[in-house]
Amino acid sequence: MSETTLVLIKPGGVKRNLIGEITRRIEQRGLNVVGLKLMRAPRELVEAHYAEHQGKGFFEDVVNYLCSGPVVAMAIQGPNAVKAIRTMMGATNPIEATPGSVRGDFALSIDDNLTHSSSDPEAAANELALWFPEGIVS
Ligand code: CMP
Repeated sequence: MSETTLVLIKPGGVKRNLIGEITRRIEQRGLNVVGLKLMRAPRELVEAHYAEHQGKGFFEDVVNYLCSGPVVAMAIQGPNAVKAIRTMMGATNPIEATPGSVRGDFALSIDDNLTHSSSDPEAAANELALWFPEGIVS
């Protein structure tokens, strides 16, 4: 079933010039980029994005981090895109990420795990509405 999901390349990934590498992997897999922008995310957007983590010890830090520099927001579409992307990015904690995944190949720290991707189709719909209020190309 075709799905659309959100991928963010976090400030660390942008700084390390990994935009091309991550996008190449997504396209090579056969998934389609249907939304793409480089932006400095406003704090209100990031707080809404991480609303499920509000109250957790790491909330302030992850919000500050995502606001600390430019991010790439992408809408990605294709068969089972939500799960396909999550698997490609690897476990949230890069130490547990499988080699061959983005985190398994390029990251070591949970605080700088390079990307965010939607956890399920419902989260994807909510996150896409936040990051692409203007809609996507389909
Ligand atoms: P992300 O997928 O963007 O969602 C929340 C982020 O919080 C997560 O990736 C990590 O970068 C960060 N984070 C920091 N500490 C933790 C933790 N203990 N559990 C989950 N996420 C964490």
